[in-house]
Amino acid sequence: MNSADNSSGSLDDWEDDLLRRYPCPQDRQPPNGKQADEFRSYDEAPEHVREFYRLNHQLQTVDVNRAKRDEFLKRDRRTMGIWEAMEFLNTLVDDSDPDTNLSQIQHLLQTAEAIRADGHPRWFILTGLVHDLGKILCLFGEPQWCVTGDTFPVGCRFDASIVYHEFFRENPDSDNQEYNSLYGIYSPNCGLRNVMLSWGHDEYMYNVCQDYLPEPGLAMIRYHSFYPWHSEGAYHHLMDDHDHQMLDYVKLFNPYDLYSKSEDPPDVEALRPYYEELIGEFFPPQLAW
Ligand SMILES: [Fe+2]
Ligand SMILES: [Fe+2]
Repeated sequence: MNSADNSSGSLDDWEDDLLRRYPCPQDRQPPNGKQADEFRSYDEAPEHVREFYRLNHQLQTVDVNRAKRDEFLKRDRRTMGIWEAMEFLNTLVDDSDPDTNLSQIQHLLQTAEAIRADGHPRWFILTGLVHDLGKILCLFGEPQWCVTGDTFPVGCRFDASIVYHEFFRENPDSDNQEYNSLYGIYSPNCGLRNVMLSWGHDEYMYNVCQDYLPEPGLAMIRYHSFYPWHSEGAYHHLMDDHDHQMLDYVKLFNPYDLYSKSEDPPDVEALRPYYEELIGEFFPPQLAW
């Protein structure tokens, strides 16, 4: 992988593991032409996925998250349009995973095309197209543990529903009295917009898109890896009324992300004019990254 960290396997391992944890429902077309049962064939994640979560849960502290925000939300690294960023992300060559046939750009297009095929609004299709562009953090040298993986609030107790919860024993915030109570640094129903989620491609891309997409699209991007919330039902005590509305949109988005992968690669150049026009409808020609 063209990234600072090869130690915990491939970038797509986490997403492959999501399919093990949240298998494709029987009434949907299974991804990659596989049967839904194939994703249920083993109960434990591979060792390198466990290692990825061990690092992620150990290192995602309040202090690290504040530092990452200071470092990356200045967005002083590159200036690119959305399509250019897609091509840049596509340079992320994943040598460590010979099973991955889909490039990053193909995952984005398959997600968007599945949303489009169901007749959803244009902002929703565009949200599918850009939702993982924050993974360019890997190309800025960031290790995988702070780019991908399930997200969760930092600054309050780590909910028991978070995958591999036992690895939080190694996180110093688990022993910090300011952070290890139910509410920690937050207050009841303060709203998720006021909650610091663990750092990764979701939070970064949400910030890049903030001025350009409608609220439901922003929620889909910010919370798409927040599995403890949208799929496990945790953290409702931090939600406000707005979050309850947004949860429905995030749940609507999730199957397009998880289950739109197929062996049939989209024709990138044929689709490009449609998507260039869609991008131009919402985004300026150049963005700061
Ligand atoms: Fe993602
Ligand atoms: Fe995705």
